[in-house]
Amino acid sequence: MNQDLIALLTCPVCHSELHWTIHECNGERVEEAEAHCNDCSADYPVHEGIGVFLTSDLPRHDLWEEAGGGLTAYLHEHPQIEQKLLESSLEELSPADQFFLAMVLEERGNYGQARTVADLARAGMYTKEYQDCFKSQIDYVTNRVSIQDGPIIDLASGRCYLVEQLAQELSRPIVATDFSPRILRRDRRFFQFLGLADRVSLLAFDARCTPFNDGAVKTMTTNLGLANIEEPGRLLDELRRVISGELSAIMFFFPDDDVANRAAAEKLGISAFMFRNSTLRLFDEAGFDVELKNVCSGRALPTPTSDLLEGAGIDALPVAETELEWCTLVAR
Ligand SMILES: C[S@@+](CC[C@H](N)C(=O)[O-])C[C@H]1O[C@@H](n2cnc3c(N)ncnc32)[C@H](O)[C@@H]1O
Repeated sequence: MNQDLIALLTCPVCHSELHWTIHECNGERVEEAEAHCNDCSADYPVHEGIGVFLTSDLPRHDLWEEAGGGLTAYLHEHPQIEQKLLESSLEELSPADQFFLAMVLEERGNYGQARTVADLARAGMYTKEYQDCFKSQIDYVTNRVSIQDGPIIDLASGRCYLVEQLAQELSRPIVATDFSPRILRRDRRFFQFLGLADRVSLLAFDARCTPFNDGAVKTMTTNLGLANIEEPGRLLDELRRVISGELSAIMFFFPDDDVANRAAAEKLGISAFMFRNSTLRLFDEAGFDVELKNVCSGRALPTPTSDLLEGAGIDALPVAETELEWCTLVAR
C-alpha cells in the first residue's frame, strides 16, 4: 500500500487514531508494517504490501476462498480432470471450463495465457448485449473519475476488472479493496505481471466496517460490488460516514416483475440492490442524493455450467433469461 494512505486510515472498530510501526518499505510503498489502536488494542498488519483491516465481529462469506480453495482441492483429488483441462484444445472446452482453466493457469502464475483464456471464456459466457453494457459502464466511470483528483477507493474489487482499466488509463492513485485476502493476493500478483503494481494499493476490509476517517473518501467506485455485500442498510450508513465526495457504482437491475430471478436473489439474500426501486429507497434512507447515469439495457442469460467439474457454475444470477437495466449510480 502507498504510504500516503496512512493519513486517511483509522481503526475500523472504534475510529481512533492508529499508531504505525513500519518494518519494510519499497520506495513509496509500505510492504510490512503494523498499525495499533491504543483505544481498543486491535492490531492491523500490512503483509506483502496488503493492509489487512478485517475485524473479528463480522462473519465473512468469502466465496473466493471457497471457490479457489475448492477448485484446487477438487483438482488435487481428480488429477485426470486437471489434465483434461490443461491438455484439451480451447475449442473443445465449454466457456465455463475455459474460465476454470484460466483460474488454474493463474494459480500456476501463467497470467498471460490465463488472460487470453479468460477473455475467450467471457465471450462465450455472456450475451453480446451484456458485454456491451458492461464495457459502456466501465468506460463511463473511467471518464467520470478522470476529471477528479486524489486517490480512488474501489469497493469490493474482486478480480479488479474496473481497477485494471482505471490503473491503465489514469494517473491517480488507486486503492483496490475486498474482504477476501485471497483475491487481493491474486490481484497483487496480477498487477505485478501487468507492471502496474506501483499504481494500485491493496486493502482488505469489510465494506460495512471500513478503516477510513470520517469524510476521508472523495472518490469511491465499485463495479457490481454493492449487490454482493450483506446488510445493505449498514453498508450505506458506513459509506455515508466516509464519503465526502462521490460514489460511482456500476449496477444492473432486474425488471420488477422478474419472478424467477427475484426469488433466486431473495434466496441468496442479495436482492436489495438487484432492483431499481429498493436501491433508490435504501440510498435515500441513508441520506444520499442519487442519479442514475449512462442507463442502457440488454438481454442476459444464465451463465453456462462446467462439463468437466460436476456441473460447477459461474454466476449465481440470472437463473432465467431476462432484460437487465445497467447504469452507473452516482451518489453524493
Ligand atoms: C462480483 S465481485 C465484484 C467485481 C469486481 N468489482 C470487478 O470489477 O472485478 C463482488 C466482490 O464483493 C466482495 N465482497 C462481498 N462482500 C463483501 C464485503 N462485505 N466487504 C467487502 N467486499 C465484499 C467479494 O469478495 C467479491 O470479490
